[in-house]
Amino acid sequence: METIKVVKTARCVPAKVVTNDDLSKIMDTSDEWISSRTGIKQRHISVGENTSQLCAVVAEQLLKKSGWDVESIDLLLVATMSPDTYTPATAALVQGKIGAHNALAFDISAACSGFIYGLNVAEKFMTSSGSACNRVMLIGGEVLSKVIDWTDRTTAVLFGDGAAGVLLERQEDGGASRFISSSLHTYGELGDKLEAGKTEALVSFPMEGEHKIKAFSMSGRDVYKFATHKVPVSIEEAVKKAGLTLDQIDYFVLHQANSRIVAQIAKRLNQPLAKFPMNIAKYGNTSAASVPLLLDELVSDKTIKRGQTIVLSGFGGGLTVGTQIIKY
Ligand code: ACO
Repeated sequence: METIKVVKTARCVPAKVVTNDDLSKIMDTSDEWISSRTGIKQRHISVGENTSQLCAVVAEQLLKKSGWDVESIDLLLVATMSPDTYTPATAALVQGKIGAHNALAFDISAACSGFIYGLNVAEKFMTSSGSACNRVMLIGGEVLSKVIDWTDRTTAVLFGDGAAGVLLERQEDGGASRFISSSLHTYGELGDKLEAGKTEALVSFPMEGEHKIKAFSMSGRDVYKFATHKVPVSIEEAVKKAGLTLDQIDYFVLHQANSRIVAQIAKRLNQPLAKFPMNIAKYGNTSAASVPLLLDELVSDKTIKRGQTIVLSGFGGGLTVGTQIIKY
């Protein structure tokens, strides 16, 4: 039987670290407030590197780790809510930088669920009948620091920059599929609960004044409520579709937005918190990068091993939620 395998994982974060104490020097906040409310202790912030540059570093690492010829990549996807430009897509920029001339490249815009949505798109490309798509590079990358309002303490303390990704390959392995099941949902009616980069239409023609792009804004409590209700539903739906039970899941690799959200989801699913690894203390919320960033750390330190059953789940702008169960 044909299966899709996660062949390699990789990550890259900017060198500059900004601690909660650093933030408390430029806004009315404290390490105590940030860490007790969110679990975040520090984040990496880009100085000069844009999203495509962080993603290109991840791409080069993935190629190095796998030994794959860059020309063998058939599809290159970047999940991001902070692209370099409206067009070209950040995926196209990365494709050009690394010389993946045979890869079709485009972006996935589903905020913090983007990486999960990307896994789903990749799976469809690889398994549609007659498809010649065998090798996919999927990267989640964000430079959120450029879309944050640094005078708004209610959002500025939450986010960080980074990129991480995977190489996927379609293989004949005789076993059961490694992409076991998924559950994706979009709640567009809640879109205004989390916005970034909103552009204004002209108010008159010819245009007067300057183009305006709005910074990040969020109704934190509404997103909190959304995540703690909809993520467990999405996970349970995917687990049921797979014919599994929650107890058969080895690890739940969840989007790192807030350690309290993760703990609440574990509680609702009646699963031990030890099955919900976290790295939010080091990176903050890196949106589309957060799930692959955590996955790469867990694979690198051998917490996640081949053959284990892993839930990957994200939620965020859209509002969106997405779960993918894989056999690693
Ligand atoms: N430092 C100090 N005080 C603060 C800060 C800060 N950084 N931010 C807010 N406060 C104050 C508020 O002004 C408020 O003061 P008041 O009571 O005098 O009005 C008080 O702290 C409590 O504020 P709340 O907003 O009620 O705090 P809450 O406990 O709800 O925590 C938080 C806020 C952390 C944002 C929480 O709601 C949350 O995590 N929500 C989910 C957000 C999320 O997951 N977003 C990511 C989605 S992913 C994506 O797509 C990008």
